Amino acid sequence: MSELTTNDGVDYGPLVALLGEWRGDKGVDRAPEPDGEERNPYYETITFEAAGDVTNCEDQVLAIVRYHQVVRRKSNDKVFHDQVGFWLWEPATNTVMETFTIPRAVAVVATGTVTAPEGADGEVVFEVSCAAEGSGIAQSAYMFDNGRTTAFSHRLSVKGDQMRYTESTTLDIYEKRSYDHKDVNTLTRVG
Ligand code: HEM
Repeated sequence: MSELTTNDGVDYGPLVALLGEWRGDKGVDRAPEPDGEERNPYYETITFEAAGDVTNCEDQVLAIVRYHQVVRRKSNDKVFHDQVGFWLWEPATNTVMETFTIPRAVAVVATGTVTAPEGADGEVVFEVSCAAEGSGIAQSAYMFDNGRTTAFSHRLSVKGDQMRYTESTTLDIYEKRSYDHKDVNTLTRVG
């Protein structure tokens, strides 16, 4: 595993496993179309950086990792998904949150758990979701009326310099209800 250290005095706990630049070219996206769905092979870069900590209400302390995910369609090399966000770890409860926005005027706050076995070789697993329909999701009036996100879940695991994720974005769009817009990829830490 790469040498992962920060020198800002913040305890990033399991978030340390995320730090660095990751690349992966085995992505598969399943997305809705008016007449069915499309499957898009993709490649991407995700960059995670230590971003300090915050204290909420003089009580809740959260360590923060900032990320930027840029996804390109294999067929034409064009960016077709761009996501900026944060992973947050609360040491007092050992819980995590992921909060992000995408440039469709949709933003998500998902909460969940992390399991991080002792030792550098263990697999660190982050699992977050928006539990109740609509909770933790903000979107424009247009998207609410036409392409509504109703749920989101994300499982991301890191073992050494390998990362895997599966995420499901549940959509009401076109004539489909609870369409499972799904994305999966495997990435390698490159820096
Ligand atoms: C690797 C991750 C992702 C990729 C590659 C991706 C890609 C796509 C593609 C190709 C479409 C169809 C666009 C079209 O045909 O017009 C789409 C639709 C959509 N995506 Fe994603 N997506 C990803 C993640 C997400 C996430 C995390 C969210 C929100 C939480 C999201 C929300 C939406 C919405 C609301 C639509 C419907 C808009 C539309 O089709 O007009 N996507 N996405």
